[in-house]
Amino acid sequence: MGNIDILNTDTPIAIASDHAGYELKEAIISYLLEHKLEVLDLGVPSPSRVDYPDVAQKLCQVVKEDISRQAILICGTGVGMSICANRHTNIRAALCTNTTTAKLAREHNNANVLVLGARLTGQDLAIECVKTFLNTAFSQDERHKKRVEKIDKLLLEVEK
Ligand code: RB5
Repeated sequence: MGNIDILNTDTPIAIASDHAGYELKEAIISYLLEHKLEVLDLGVPSPSRVDYPDVAQKLCQVVKEDISRQAILICGTGVGMSICANRHTNIRAALCTNTTTAKLAREHNNANVLVLGARLTGQDLAIECVKTFLNTAFSQDERHKKRVEKIDKLLLEVEK
């Protein structure tokens, strides 16, 4: 399926899913390990039913503590995980269903969590989204930087 030239190899790629995303999570982990990348698997360890907000919480904590700088969350549609993850300060989670969104989510939004919907996005396309997300850097353009800074300030305002 082609190579992956990950940009940031200084922290592991954290990944987590609920039961609906379990199978896709396992496929992505196999792909990343085949390409000798370090993975932090935060579960779930089996397709037994869990609540996606608990899974999102666990993964976001790891990103906020800087244990991982790029992470992947998977549920059935990706919607539940996106809602949960984006409630956290310093988390910019992007639900991606194609590689263009995965690329622009990094370039324009400096997204640090890629969200995938296992019931909507097939395995091959999901892996293409992972590759694109991990291979794309945040744009150095001042206009994008300014906007992302505004997102972080906005969250601080809301939390007051
Ligand atoms: C689980 O059935 C499903 O609701 C969950 O994976 C997700 O799609 C929620 O947004």
